[in-house]
This record gives sequence, C-alpha cells and structure tokens, in this order.
Amino acid sequence: MDEIQLTPLARELGLRLVPAHVGVIMDGNGRWAQKRGMPRMMGHRAGVETLRDVIRFSSDVGIQVLSLYAFSTENWKRPADEVGGLMRLLVEFLYKEIDELDANGVRIRFMGDIDALPAPQHKAVEYGLEKTKDNTGLIVNIALNYGARAEIARAARELAAAAVRGELDAAAITEQSVTDALYTAGLPDVDLVIRTSGEMRLSNFMLYQCSYAEFYFPEVLWPDFSKEEYAKVLLQFQQRDRRYGGVK
Ligand code: FPP
Repeated sequence: MDEIQLTPLARELGLRLVPAHVGVIMDGNGRWAQKRGMPRMMGHRAGVETLRDVIRFSSDVGIQVLSLYAFSTENWKRPADEVGGLMRLLVEFLYKEIDELDANGVRIRFMGDIDALPAPQHKAVEYGLEKTKDNTGLIVNIALNYGARAEIARAARELAAAAVRGELDAAAITEQSVTDALYTAGLPDVDLVIRTSGEMRLSNFMLYQCSYAEFYFPEVLWPDFSKEEYAKVLLQFQQRDRRYGGVK
C-alpha cells in the first residue's frame, strides 16, 4: 500500500491510498458477445479493449502491479476454435500493444507454464519480456497457462530439490521461502481482487498471494468494465477496514 506518493489522477479521484497490487479476473466476455448475437471471440476482442484502458488507468493512478488472469490451465478444455482464438489474440496483443506499453514505462511479466505454450505464443512472450525488461513503471503480470495450485506445487518441488542438494534446511522453510519460490517472487501481496460479471469465485487464481486481499465482484461483464467503475472500486477499497487478523 502506498499512502504517501499519490499521482495527480489518484488525487483527482479523491483517493488517499492506492492498492499496490490489483488482481483482475476478466470474466464475462463470452456472455457479452452472446447477448449481442456475436461469436464468443468478439467478446474476447472487446475484452482486450477494456484491458487496454484498465492498464492505462492502473498506471495513471499509481498501482504498482496489475495481475491479469488471461488463460488458466483449465481453459484448454474450451472448444478448440476458442482456445486458438485466445492464443492468437494474445500474440496480437503482445506485438501490437507493446510499443505503447513500453512508452508508458510498463514492464510485462508472466506467470504460468510458459514453456508448454505453442511456439508463436512462447516467442511473443519472450518478445514482451525482453522489450520491457528495463522499465520501472506499472508491472503487468499476465497469468498464462496458469493455475495457483500448480504454482504452489511447483514451488514445493523447487524447495524440495534445493533441500536435496543441501542448499536449504527443510526445517527452516518459512512462509517467505514459499513466497520467494512462486512466480510472483519479489512482488507485493495482492491487495485487491476484482472479478467482473457477478461470479464470486477465485477459480484457482493466486491463492497464496491473495491471503489478505479484499474482493470486489462488480456485476458488469468485462467488456463493459469502465474507468468509472474501476474508480468506484478503488474508492470503496479505501473504505475497507483491513485488519490482517488483528484488531484496531
Ligand atoms: C473470461 O470470459 C475470459 C477469459 C477466459 C479470457 C480473458 C482474456 C482476454 C480478455 C483477452 C486475452 C488476454 C490478453 C492478455 C491479450 P468468459 O469467456 O469465461 O466469459 P463467460 O463466462 O461469459 O463465458
């Protein structure tokens, strides 16, 4: 949480504090398209437009990290044409948007099993990472082929292997050791999770990092999630009484 350094936009909105790390589950693209009699992919395309605005707004308001659930390990179960469409959209997004993101100081990160992605997606990911690696502004952390349980299991394997190599005393493993073995190593915990479309589930998203997060479930479908709606969520967030299990 950053209570001291407020950006001009944050002040204009009447924010006194801004969450350091916001996680977003961009839900409702399919329903948005179906309601209009369009193919589901049109919903995902509209979702990318929203994403562009949300990234820009997050940066302008002074959020440090924006984590986005773009594609889960479970999403492979969708019809092949939708999976293919989402994969293409990702590549398109990375090549088309990267210059603007770069110009705004955004640094891209990924979490998930990136190595298991098809070659074009893998290449686009590498491109995004390389292009923005020296930037110091908003970190856009994209969950891609991601599942939180798999992430925790991977961290456990990494710690166990280090213990077997004699580099780590198994009895000395702390919460911080686990934190440091997650994809999000070095990033602050998630302060705020927004899931659009009225669904109230975490769906295997950042389970460890969300331990003390506040949750918002706006009813709007992701393509309709506006800057005004985002500002409303941030204003409500600062009213929440976060006690982290203690008392005040
Ligand atoms: C959930 O809506 C959304 C997704 C599974 C994909 C989210 C992806 C994007 C917004 C675009 C691609 C991402 C990047 C980073 C370019 P849904 O399809 O589950 O909607 P529904 O619940 O209404 O069917």
